[in-house]
Amino acid sequence: MPQSRYPEGHVFYRKLNRSYPLIVRGEGCFLYDADGKQYLDGSGGAFVANLGHGLTEIGDAMARQAAKVAYVNGTAFTHEAVELFAAELAALAPGDLDYAYFLGSGSEAVEAALKLARQYWNEQGKTDKRKIIALRPGYHGNTILALSASAREQYKTYYQGWLVEVVRIPAPYAYRCGCGGSGERGAGSGAGHCPVCSGSVLEEAILREGPETVAAFIAEPVGGSSTGASVPGPDYFRRVREICDRHQVLFIADEVLAGAGRTGTWSAIEQYGVVPDLMTMGKGIGGGYAPVSVVMAPRRITDVIAKGSGAFLHAQTFSHHPVLCAGGLAAVRYIRSHRLVERCAAMGPVFHQKLQALKKHEAVGDIRGRGLLAGVEFVEDRASRRPFPRKKKFAESFAEAALAEGLMTWPNTGQADGDQGDLAMLAPPFIITEPEIDEMVRRFSAALDRMK
Ligand SMILES: Cc1ncc(COP(=O)(O)O)c(C=O)c1O
Repeated sequence: MPQSRYPEGHVFYRKLNRSYPLIVRGEGCFLYDADGKQYLDGSGGAFVANLGHGLTEIGDAMARQAAKVAYVNGTAFTHEAVELFAAELAALAPGDLDYAYFLGSGSEAVEAALKLARQYWNEQGKTDKRKIIALRPGYHGNTILALSASAREQYKTYYQGWLVEVVRIPAPYAYRCGCGGSGERGAGSGAGHCPVCSGSVLEEAILREGPETVAAFIAEPVGGSSTGASVPGPDYFRRVREICDRHQVLFIADEVLAGAGRTGTWSAIEQYGVVPDLMTMGKGIGGGYAPVSVVMAPRRITDVIAKGSGAFLHAQTFSHHPVLCAGGLAAVRYIRSHRLVERCAAMGPVFHQKLQALKKHEAVGDIRGRGLLAGVEFVEDRASRRPFPRKKKFAESFAEAALAEGLMTWPNTGQADGDQGDLAMLAPPFIITEPEIDEMVRRFSAALDRMK
């Protein structure tokens, strides 16, 4: 059964029109299928396999927890795994983000963070504070509220009428902004600040909507696949913080993709010297061994709930799950004891320097990112940055070509104008070596040659 394809078998596959190699083993940065073909996991799946494949420590910790006690409900009991995991994350989180609410996926964490923001204002009698402001491009998940906050129109196609309205402002996306991400307008394009990349467009939106109606602003501190790892300028989030403080708007940092060390610090936001009001993490905190996510909140928010209704109204059967928390705890302790965040910081510049070799391909318009996170933006014309026509499906075809070359990448589309725009994301395990980065670049390059 080396290849599997719908409608053979009984799996409702993620895509119903392609064949799936059957992966039987993973080791370090590599995956192996039933035919013995090797794949370099250049994107850690979907930015998840940060520790590398084939570790036994995390699964062992989960098995020990399952044998001790597999499940208790968070309304009645607490347990050692959740206590220790919360303490570990509180110690790592920036500023006063000292309380951890655990869930299973990034979408759930975003959903919960947005609901927490609304409940926080409601419990203080500020019931009009209900609007969410989010960036375009931007992605925050696929459940209905998280999808509403996401500017990924192709994911919304069949769900119009169910999604809530979210106020959208343009993301600081240097490659496609006239200011080049500096936040300053050059002499040719009018004096003063660029409202988008300086962050002042957020204040304009809050004032337009009425600060008394805005509950929260949510953003990825370093862009994920939506902007292809676009890195906002150094002052962007300081400005965001000032604006949110001035208008009593909660700032939610969505670290589901960029957090857990990926950009070279535990959280991506801490490199901006800013503490958000709420922070979500997922993906990498379980390293792929445990599907676990978290909302980190400060006491100034949790106390409002404690002194008000007494409970965050977001009941989920598996929140604070012992086995997931034991897995997350083991993964985070592994990251710490193996100094993988430091390794990510050290390897980041090497990785980005080696990726520059891809610029020899005409289709590569830009390469950007931070730490072991990179986005390669493809264009039809480099000089004008014109994207490929969408019907060409460049990003999707490239991802298949890369798999054929034995390289897992993560494609995304639509970042140029909501429809057009092609990207490949790279986010290898933090343990990747220099020869493995060279091999990644070689396979990426070979995949681009296949696209000619
Ligand atoms: C920034 C961000 N937030 C939230 C999510 C949703 O996470 P999940 O797919 O685990 O639900 C993602 C997923 O890609 C993400 O990149």
